[in-house]
Amino acid sequence: MSPNRIWHILLSSLILFLSTGSVLSESQCGGYITNPKGYIHTPYFPKPYKVPIHCQWIFEAPQGSKVSVYFTQFYMKKGITAADYTYYSSHIKAGVGKYDFGIISSNDEPTYLVSNQQILVLTMNVRSLDNIHLRVRENLLDVSGFNITYEMILRNETVREDSCIYHHCSFTGNCFATADFSSYICKCFANYFGEECQYDDTCGPNSTSSVCLNGGTCR
Ligand SMILES: *[C@@H]1O[C@H](CO)[C@@H](O)[C@H](O)[C@H]1NC(C)=O
Ligand SMILES: *[C@@H]1O[C@H](CO)[C@@H](O)[C@H](O)[C@H]1NC(C)=O
Ligand SMILES: *[C@@H]1O[C@H](CO)[C@@H](O)[C@H](O)[C@H]1NC(C)=O
Repeated sequence: MSPNRIWHILLSSLILFLSTGSVLSESQCGGYITNPKGYIHTPYFPKPYKVPIHCQWIFEAPQGSKVSVYFTQFYMKKGITAADYTYYSSHIKAGVGKYDFGIISSNDEPTYLVSNQQILVLTMNVRSLDNIHLRVRENLLDVSGFNITYEMILRNETVREDSCIYHHCSFTGNCFATADFSSYICKCFANYFGEECQYDDTCGPNSTSSVCLNGGTCR
């Protein structure tokens, strides 16, 4: 391979890396995040992570900005807390101007969390996997941990309205950000379809079955 070609490959992988934002490795837990947008996930998501686990994701928005987190795929009933700060030291795990958001639980079906200050810290602290993750519709959504997106927004900006969670996808699909994080969509499990994965073979817009008359929705 010519040196030119090697440079070309190196450069395009660098560009790919930069343009996709920082994607943390499979097993990594926590990190220091300054990218304008991206996603974070628990180790080995959607498979179970190893316990006990303790880690932190520290988001630092630029001056004049704040952090917005969208709980696209969030399946933890407990074990995650959030707080924002004006200043935070990852070495001593403490900061200045702390405001506590408390426990973030899938029971509350959170859609997003937006900080008021420049720094948002998500802390994960789990000793055992007992009864900590959400399981819906038998095995359709038997996943552990989370895979969620974030973006840094200006102080005067509002969070995006179109983000979704499994709840918006009728529990029969997952919510994903599109590749450039410009919009959010439901990706349905096999045999489900519709914008909110609200249809299946027995019940859809063209269905003649009595389960749902006149093309009504059914969940
Ligand atoms: C927010 O503030 C910036 C400058 O600080 C300005 O350029 C922008 O138009 C403002 N956006 C809104 C939605 O007010
Ligand atoms: C994690 O979320 C991002 C953004 O929604 C998505 O592109 C990616 O496919 C997800 N990963 C998994 C394993 O679901
Ligand atoms: C429903 O029927 C219309 C008209 O026949 C068709 O264009 C459409 O693709 C059908 N939709 C589904 C989800 O099968």
